[in-house]
Amino acid sequence: MMRTTNGTSEEAMDGTSGGATAALIELTGVSKIFHTDEIETHALREVNLQIGEGEFLSIAGPSGCGKSTLLSLLGLLDSPTVGEYVLDGSPVSGLSGSQRATIRNRHIGFVFQAFNLIGDLTVFENVELPLTYRGISTAERKERAMKALERVDMPHRINHYPSQLSGGQQQRVAVARAVVGDPLILLADEPTGNLDSSNGEAVMNLLAELHRDGATICMVTHDPRYADFADSTLHLFDGKIVDRRSNGATRELQAHGYEVVTPERTLS
Ligand SMILES: Nc1ncnc2c1ncn2[C@@H]1O[C@H](COP(=O)(O)OP(=O)(O)OP(=O)(O)O)[C@@H](O)[C@H]1O
Ligand SMILES: [Mg+2]
Repeated sequence: MMRTTNGTSEEAMDGTSGGATAALIELTGVSKIFHTDEIETHALREVNLQIGEGEFLSIAGPSGCGKSTLLSLLGLLDSPTVGEYVLDGSPVSGLSGSQRATIRNRHIGFVFQAFNLIGDLTVFENVELPLTYRGISTAERKERAMKALERVDMPHRINHYPSQLSGGQQQRVAVARAVVGDPLILLADEPTGNLDSSNGEAVMNLLAELHRDGATICMVTHDPRYADFADSTLHLFDGKIVDRRSNGATRELQAHGYEVVTPERTLS
């Protein structure tokens, strides 16, 4: 399965790559159709996407274009209606429910758009929870959970319940929970959406550190300052990928005085 330690990947060590390496995530012809009453919603349409191990991808696009749906599929929380998802060389459709759960628990960190903190657990217990699936000692769980909470500036609220927190505080706890287990894949749905700039930057620095340690990150954001932390940006429109470009190339063009027009502006 995937690497279980942090640190430099083998590919990066042998110098064959400038960041992205063999595809860790590969979607081929993936569509997601939701059926509710009489309505059929094509949330994703024939998406082809490769994400290299250790890559940091940001995802943008208008409301309802399929960003959260894409993250749910990538995080094995939902399955494509059509098409194939190959994760680390294995077709996901061939995995049992418990295999999917094990991968989610051990390797994937998720920051949900709606936080999804567990209401009857305290802040500390919410953050500690992912570690309880892994046979880690109580003392180490405590140390790691506290460290993650300190990183998002929430150590003073460990005994609060989610309903007693502001939206931004809940978001920071959700980020701490997603990173506490050093996931190989971090899927973050607007992780800075409710934060002021100093807390937003703290969260982005945390993500950047995880990325430096080798994690693969997919982050939905509308904020160009934060999208800039990523290696490349994917634009979705009406369930389709309409553009993907390297942020380095964009910065280079801008440095030479070119205006870089995003598909959102040309299509809306
Ligand atoms: N469980 C569901 N059942 C039915 N329709 C759904 C479901 N989840 C999403 N959809 C529909 O799929 C489309 C894509 O939704 P999605 O949540 O992926 O959008 P999004 O890009 O994340 O939007 P936002 O920026 O508002 O969060 C929408 O039209 C939405 O109504
Ligand atoms: Mg969404």
